[in-house]
Amino acid sequence: MKYYIKTFGCQMNEHDSEIIAGILESAGYQPAADLAAADVVVVNTCCIRESAENKIRGYIGNLKACKYQKPGVILAAVGCMMQQKTIDGLLKRQGRHLDIVLGTYQQHRLPEYIARVLAGEGPIVDISEDNQDFPDELPSRLSSKYSAQVNIIYGCNNFCSYCIVPHVRGRERSRDFAAIMSELHSLAEVGVKEIMLLGQNVNSYGKDWRRQGQADAPDFAELLQAASQVEGIERIRYMSSHPRDFSPQLVDVISDLPKVRDYYHLPLQSGCDRILQAMNRGYSTADYQAILARIREKTPQAAVTTDLIVGFPGETEADFQQTLDFVAGCRFDAAYTFLYSPRSGTPAATMAEQVPLAVKKERLQRLVTLQNSLSLEHNQAYLGQKVQVLVEGLSKNNPDFYTGRTASNKIVIFEGRPEQIGQLVDLTITGAKTWHLEAF
Ligand code: SAH
Ligand code: SF4
Ligand code: F3S
Repeated sequence: MKYYIKTFGCQMNEHDSEIIAGILESAGYQPAADLAAADVVVVNTCCIRESAENKIRGYIGNLKACKYQKPGVILAAVGCMMQQKTIDGLLKRQGRHLDIVLGTYQQHRLPEYIARVLAGEGPIVDISEDNQDFPDELPSRLSSKYSAQVNIIYGCNNFCSYCIVPHVRGRERSRDFAAIMSELHSLAEVGVKEIMLLGQNVNSYGKDWRRQGQADAPDFAELLQAASQVEGIERIRYMSSHPRDFSPQLVDVISDLPKVRDYYHLPLQSGCDRILQAMNRGYSTADYQAILARIREKTPQAAVTTDLIVGFPGETEADFQQTLDFVAGCRFDAAYTFLYSPRSGTPAATMAEQVPLAVKKERLQRLVTLQNSLSLEHNQAYLGQKVQVLVEGLSKNNPDFYTGRTASNKIVIFEGRPEQIGQLVDLTITGAKTWHLEAF
């Protein structure tokens, strides 16, 4: 039997798909070259914004064709979108041909459910929340030989008022420290050079244990320090961190860790204090500024990127102007910018004063224009500089060239050789664009 997995959504989902692939392979399945060759198709879904859901509805709708061509094919949808309370509508319309629907708590049981469908049962929907951890002690199928993702905490307790994640991924559960460390060591042994520590809020690592009275439970800083000791791992990244839990003291710890310190991703969401409060973010622009100041003081070479939401309910032109001014002052290396998207079941979705789409789009455009000019300035500062790049492979946009990343997570396009893939190479930057650097 052959499987094919299509993944939507964030890095957490990418990694979940690696684990699902690992689970299927240990149950005897093999990867299919493409959709048409598959006996089992798994769609791993996301519901962070309406645009994601629309894409997935379309994809799932199109899978009907697979059933016509190959009536025995098993179609499964798993992940965040399936865990939503409102999923019935999809199942009645675009998803009637799905054989298996599993939420985020049950997806590891896929082989068992496939067997049941093969035995004649179906369709099966299991979105129960029996809070079992996703068993990632199982071998996951690495999608890269030198870069790997490692879960450190599941779920989210923050309940930002716009966000669906806590509703579909449950409460925070930290993963056992020894299990994480042993995974890091095994990854280093097989030649992995870069790791990404994953969680919706990595800074909360260990807090659940401390709340339960385990005063000496490890925290995120200790985890970073221990991970830094793993020989062979050259770069450590993490995703995502929350400014509420990111103290200037944590910056001090990170500044002493050369494998970690050159890149920060710290989602700001808004540069207006009133909106931050309505978003339930738990920090002010002044708090954010204090963290950023410490980063710039300790590691002026570090790149800092952020996430921003435009058009949160009640955001006035003056509020938005505050965001523009704050972003200009922060001088981010890059920003991932999003139009606010109402998510059913979240407080923001029913707030009065929803911002019209046209206004949101116009604001987004102004924000992107500002950020692009800042990004370009940052990148131009690299001209003539020597950088160390971890080589990823051929550039997708320009297959005559190779692509890799600096310690500060900047993409570099250069003339490379196949044997450099997975290696650290020294390059001198000769070109700077908004989204990447060049060395050729
Ligand atoms: N846990 C991560 C974020 C995961 S979602 C964190 O807190 O950083 C990634 C980004 O999507 C968020 O940072 C936010 O900017 C954006 N996002 C989340 N919900 C959204 C919504 N309803 N509409 C638009 N953007 C949203
Ligand atoms: Fe969503 Fe906020 Fe949790 Fe991030 S921290 S996943 S934005 S609720
Ligand atoms: Fe999407 Fe779920 Fe990630 S909603 S962004 S796949 S946590």
